[in-house]
Amino acid sequence: MEIVIIDEPEDVGPLGADAIAQHVVANPEAVLGLATGSSPLRVYQELGARVARGELSLSRCQAFLLDEYVGLPAGHPEAYRTVIDREFCDLVDLDPANVHGLDGTAEDLLGECTRYESAIAAAGGIDVQLLGIGRDGHIAFNEPGSSLGSRTRVKTLTTQTRLDNARFFGDDFHAVPLHCLTQGIGTISSARHLVLIALGEPKAEAVHQLVEGPISALWPATALQLHPHVTVLLDPAAASRL
Ligand code: GLP
Repeated sequence: MEIVIIDEPEDVGPLGADAIAQHVVANPEAVLGLATGSSPLRVYQELGARVARGELSLSRCQAFLLDEYVGLPAGHPEAYRTVIDREFCDLVDLDPANVHGLDGTAEDLLGECTRYESAIAAAGGIDVQLLGIGRDGHIAFNEPGSSLGSRTRVKTLTTQTRLDNARFFGDDFHAVPLHCLTQGIGTISSARHLVLIALGEPKAEAVHQLVEGPISALWPATALQLHPHVTVLLDPAAASRL
């Protein structure tokens, strides 16, 4: 695990973008894993700037989202597909047909999860996966207690995560869906390179567990200790308990 502590939070954009771009330069058809949340936003903006300057093209890449709320209709401003379109896809030259998400309105949610695993496999697996981390150590929506070998499935969000995410729903906790579809920890661990970004003191304990804690389903991100190629980008506050 490569730990990079960045003095200036804005430098996370270029460093994260470098980590993605190296895969795209090596293979213009690279398969990218995208994360929602505030942590990757600077990376998306930097990739958008590089594409706008003609320095990089994602036009032949494919992309897969990590997770999705259950029950939010297509186009809902907080559906993760909408968020990724707004925060990333609109800034770069990805072909929308090559951006894949989970359908949280599917009638057969289990079937949707199986379909998604097959789609990732058919694309050849994910080359580089961006990740944030929840303050309880969740990655994607794999909450504490998630099986470390889990694949894409339906999960129930914890009260803490719904409270944390209420800010995106007009501070209305009850508007945050109770269920989600999420790649499992086993799915995420199958990506060839993981790039996790954590910013701010509220993430410090989760980062401490991720890097120094015992591997445990109680801190799902600790599964990353077993992965051969992980890059962790931290600001000093997130790194303050290391
Ligand atoms: C949500 C997402 C996670 C993300 C987490 C942290 O729970 N499902 O993928 O890592 O939020 O978000 P942020 O980066 O805004 O702190």
